[in-house]
Amino acid sequence: MAVKISTISALVVFLALLSLSHFSHGELQLGFYNKTCPDVEKIVFGVVQDAFRTNSRLAPLMIRLYFHDCFSNGCDASLLLDSTTSEKTAGPNLSVDGYALIDAIKDELEIKCAGFISCADIIALATRDLVNLASGGKARYEIPTGRFDGRESLASSVNLPGPQMSVSDTVEMFEKRNLDLTDMVLLLGGHTIGKTHCSFIKDRLYNFENTQGPDPAMDPKLVKELKRECPENSKQNKAINLDQNVSSSNIVDASFYKQIKSGRGILQIDDQLATDEMTEQIVTDLAEGDDFLARFGQAMVKLGSFGVKNKDAGEIRKSCRSCKNRFCTA
Ligand code: HEM
Repeated sequence: MAVKISTISALVVFLALLSLSHFSHGELQLGFYNKTCPDVEKIVFGVVQDAFRTNSRLAPLMIRLYFHDCFSNGCDASLLLDSTTSEKTAGPNLSVDGYALIDAIKDELEIKCAGFISCADIIALATRDLVNLASGGKARYEIPTGRFDGRESLASSVNLPGPQMSVSDTVEMFEKRNLDLTDMVLLLGGHTIGKTHCSFIKDRLYNFENTQGPDPAMDPKLVKELKRECPENSKQNKAINLDQNVSSSNIVDASFYKQIKSGRGILQIDDQLATDEMTEQIVTDLAEGDDFLARFGQAMVKLGSFGVKNKDAGEIRKSCRSCKNRFCTA
């Protein structure tokens, strides 16, 4: 009898703990809106496809927005909130954009399924669709939904890795978000598309770690080319493709890994991935294999489950730029 009672109480404690963990973290599932808005994915894809036809920049912009939103305080659309002190005003977020596309999707959904779809899920779905479109339809992944929108957004709490950090420090930041070494290498494959600016690479070209010379890890031919694009004393801050393969700089594919293996990575962290002993083999496998697109999708899904809010900790906003609840820190 004593055994039975202690088994039952252990079960009660276990169930209580389980429900407590559900209380603070959202539960994601495929087809979360099947009953409330069965066409949500079709509606999102329609708006995204129309916008992509006239603006291919939307793919890199949204992939980066998704990463920056999820990495700082979880995937809760806190990056979308407008205020003079919100996350979007933090240094690393100043060149993030794509907000107008989210607004357009939200407007459409508020007409067709008012009050049901979170801005955090709109980011996740739109990013998935843009990865698909920018890969010429080759990358296709299912993404669970059920995220609620956060009620806190502070520039001071933005916490993102910098391009000059070491691989081991960067891994540590990813691990704190339940993303392992391989996930990190896969997600940095996001740099297969989009641009950076001369200001982020000038040190690599002219004065790498105070050597008065270029980063020896960078292909000397690329150093020469980039010096023409980014003259040392020019105030112009030109945009440079992250994927230096001219035929695929606008396409989501594995060519980024081939580029970094030849010292043609643009950001220091990208080139480091190809030479650091922790990540070298993973990079080689991705450069030579044919499974990057599928694995990238799975890593994006994993990133999209970090720090998700449930309905007690979040809300469904009416406008993605402002909270509905008046107890909102933004
Ligand atoms: C160690 C991690 C990372 C660092 C240090 C980093 C750093 C950067 C920097 C400095 C830029 C250029 C910004 C500019 O010049 O305005 C950039 C662009 C970009 N990043 Fe990352 N990033 C990281 C991880 C990621 C991840 C995980 C993703 C995707 C899942 C991603 C996607 C992108 C994209 C798509 C762009 C191009 C944006 C555009 O064209 O506007 N990054 N990143």
